[in-house]
Amino acid sequence: MDQKNAAKPGASLAGGMMRRKSIEQVQAEYGTSELKRTLGPINLIFLGIGCIIGAGIFVRTGNAAALHAGPGVMLSFLVAGLVCAFAGLCYAELASVLPVSGSAYTYSYATLGEFAAWIMGALLLLEYGLAASVVAVGWSGYAVSLMHDFGINIPPEYTGPAGHLLGAMVNGEFVPATTFVNGELPAGGAAVTGVFNLPALAVSLTLMLILVVGVSESANFNNVIVLIKVAVIVAFIAIGGMAILGDIPKYAPNWDPFIPEPTGEQGEYGIGGVLRAASIVFFAYIGFEAVSTAGQEAKNPKRDMPIGILGSLIICTILYMLTAAVLTLLVNYTELNTPAPVAEAVNRLGPEYGWFKMAVKIGAIAGLTSVILVLMYGQTRVFYAMARDGLIPGLFASVHKGFKTPWINTLIVGALVSIAAAVFDINTLGDLTSVGTLAAFAIVCFTVIYLRRTRPDLERGFTVPLFPVLPAIGILSCLGLIFTVEQRVLSFFGYFLAGAIAVYFVYGVWNSKLGRAKA
Ligand code: ALA
Repeated sequence: MDQKNAAKPGASLAGGMMRRKSIEQVQAEYGTSELKRTLGPINLIFLGIGCIIGAGIFVRTGNAAALHAGPGVMLSFLVAGLVCAFAGLCYAELASVLPVSGSAYTYSYATLGEFAAWIMGALLLLEYGLAASVVAVGWSGYAVSLMHDFGINIPPEYTGPAGHLLGAMVNGEFVPATTFVNGELPAGGAAVTGVFNLPALAVSLTLMLILVVGVSESANFNNVIVLIKVAVIVAFIAIGGMAILGDIPKYAPNWDPFIPEPTGEQGEYGIGGVLRAASIVFFAYIGFEAVSTAGQEAKNPKRDMPIGILGSLIICTILYMLTAAVLTLLVNYTELNTPAPVAEAVNRLGPEYGWFKMAVKIGAIAGLTSVILVLMYGQTRVFYAMARDGLIPGLFASVHKGFKTPWINTLIVGALVSIAAAVFDINTLGDLTSVGTLAAFAIVCFTVIYLRRTRPDLERGFTVPLFPVLPAIGILSCLGLIFTVEQRVLSFFGYFLAGAIAVYFVYGVWNSKLGRAKA
């Protein structure tokens, strides 16, 4: 902290927390943009789907069905999709007032003030940074399975989180822990405990290096990956659906019961389980709000932003519900807690579908790679914006002369993402990501209400219908889903927020550029 700032701190701590950029200042900061307005509604929908479809549907659906909702996971997708739609409408309104290439961080700074922006920055670290780790772990599941098909076997202890029981070696064969009967080690089996997840580490570090060198964010490249992902999902629904219709008596019993009887444990089956699973599969929708960051590049943002946000949400909800239906009909929900559930379901179709199993795995790996890249990129840009505002050290905004990328920032983000992906388990990481993102969405819904009251004069290209009921339902539904998550994860979240708040008071509040400008 320099001398000038040292004189000011106490000046008004509360004032510091509340200081904010004016809407006009933010609009001016981004107003000089030379970005071309080239994106129409279809491009925006593609952009949304590019960020959305990833580990949520390809990996976490299996766990949500197996342990929490059974086939009722279809309804969990509906619930999570609705929660996202409320938040999505709020994002669309804010994006029409502040069509900036920022994120919820920028919205908060211009409305609720610096402290709220800081909290938002911390939540986005969960939504982007931690989510990237989750998707990297999901990537690892499909990569290990694909390599196995080619006869390449990574020792199992290097394919899972540190210290977790992954399975057992029985007669030289690896048996995953998820298949243990009553959770007991098979007779004569030697337990295998995770050391670290090598493929997850490798993919995160590789993508980090690609981001350091700089990727050209070619819309065409994104469109190709989106088409591959959607093609794999649609093919799974079509091929699996035809197999089911061809032999209904074989598959229909897998839907009986549709929602298994609650066990008495919180979140295990029953309606409570469906809601618990909704907070898990909520992860599958994260990323739709990326559309709102493209405000400056949309041809007609007022009309097209809501179409882009809601359009991609609706398409994904339909695809997800159908995928969940086919998945839980092909495989009994009790057997779905595997690292690559969609590939597992294709397995059940029989050996003649070997080619399709391969295609699913390759498609999933391609799709997951692009999601990790986009999430890590998003995280570096949030840190970049925070550093430019002085809330975190300037090195996060330092740009490499040759590559023209925030390289130190990218190396730090990449290292954190890689370590988390290597040592933690996907369920804990995924739940923490969902909780952080739900909290961020709740703040976005609140921001819409706040801004309508404080700045009714602003020109809004799009307004949330049924105001203030819809944003209020948005806040309540986000908070409601947060509280379905395990206490252990909520405690983690509490410690994380407390740590983030402490850092703000030790560093951010004294170094904020806005604060220094007013000093
Ligand atoms: N929605 C993204 C996924 O499911 C983050 O991977």
